[in-house]
Amino acid sequence: MKSLDQVDVEIYNAIKEEKNRQDKGLELIASENFTSEAVLEAQRSVMTNKYAEGYPGKRYYGGCKFVDVAETLAIERAIKLFNADHANVQPHSGTQANMAVYFACLEIGDTVLGMDLSCGGHLSHGASFNFSGKFYNFEFYGVNKNTYKIDLEDVRQKAIELKPKLIVTGASSYPREIDFEGFKEIADEVGALLMADIAHIAGLVASGFHKSPFPYCDFVTSTTHKTLRGPRGGLILCKEEYKKDIDKAVFPFSQGGPMMHTIAAKAVCFKEAMGQDFINYQKQIVDNCKVLSEELMSLGYELITGRTDIHLLLMDLRKNEMTGKEAQELLESAGITANRNVIPYDPKPPNITSGLRLGVPAITSRGMKESEMKQIAEMIHNVLQNRDESTINKVKEEVWELCKRFPIDL
Ligand SMILES: Cc1ncc(COP(=O)(O)O)c(C=O)c1O
Repeated sequence: MKSLDQVDVEIYNAIKEEKNRQDKGLELIASENFTSEAVLEAQRSVMTNKYAEGYPGKRYYGGCKFVDVAETLAIERAIKLFNADHANVQPHSGTQANMAVYFACLEIGDTVLGMDLSCGGHLSHGASFNFSGKFYNFEFYGVNKNTYKIDLEDVRQKAIELKPKLIVTGASSYPREIDFEGFKEIADEVGALLMADIAHIAGLVASGFHKSPFPYCDFVTSTTHKTLRGPRGGLILCKEEYKKDIDKAVFPFSQGGPMMHTIAAKAVCFKEAMGQDFINYQKQIVDNCKVLSEELMSLGYELITGRTDIHLLLMDLRKNEMTGKEAQELLESAGITANRNVIPYDPKPPNITSGLRLGVPAITSRGMKESEMKQIAEMIHNVLQNRDESTINKVKEEVWELCKRFPIDL
């Protein structure tokens, strides 16, 4: 059998270069992580060859005995890990998981109350240029203009006024813990269903470092590749009564054959997430992010809400007379990857922004701890303060030295 470099040298080289980029740089994109070798092994397995439309024991194809083992394990483990009644592990992505929940419980045109994208929500929570905003009447709650925190009283007023069929909670760039119980009280008050999108915080939820959305939510969606450290993919958890509707909304309504190699890798990720090493890892994520936040603040930077409870923080660069785009580009040239991000009520457009989002799951997977966070804060400060070539080159060297001490292949 021919190897990749013999069949397609261009792709072989692109993968090699990407590996090199990951090895040599500091990955601070909050939604990224490095999977374990075991997850990667399952993901690149022969299960990619198998068609398995349907669900375990009820497939439309023969030969599903072993993929049934993988999917059943993934379902059982997800249920146990998140304390849910039911799990659907087939969504190809977080967006498709959200789509399936909407298809399961809404009619086209129904009113939904979600978090504003510009305050930290996600595209699939009703953005006008996303299917969610086109198919449904999404209305939005934001964050308080002074504290930048979710104001449940404001959510309540909006819910009473708009009478949504569904309330969506969960975010992409909100640095604080979300009060699912508080959202449940509001949902009950107005007779709405409640969904939590825990794409970012799933690892923290699984290990008890963020409160669980169950028993408060009817539906919980997630990605499996962020703090959870699994393969790229989606997940839906729900209460027993919605089990059938959710399964039908995924297959056959919005997806065809499941990606069995990814589902096998999700099963591995859920198993890993049940272990003590994973709990220690999630604790380290929270500790690291706290230290990074405090160091940046002591160096004079402002953070949205003044702190973080989770794996990410949002820098407000307005006082530094710098845009998120400039900061992202300067840091990238020094080997530090992060993403520009709107801050709530951002005066700058989304392609420029006044904010920079930083997350620590990937560098924590490399084994970095509090002292490295201090060093990283200094490096960021050096680059953003000096903005010149010699500083950038010096920091790039420091980044490489640090990365060599913490190789990705643990
Ligand atoms: C809160 C939230 N939900 C959903 C998604 C979508 O996930 P995917 O990119 O897998 O579609 C993201 C991705 O960043 C997210 O942050």
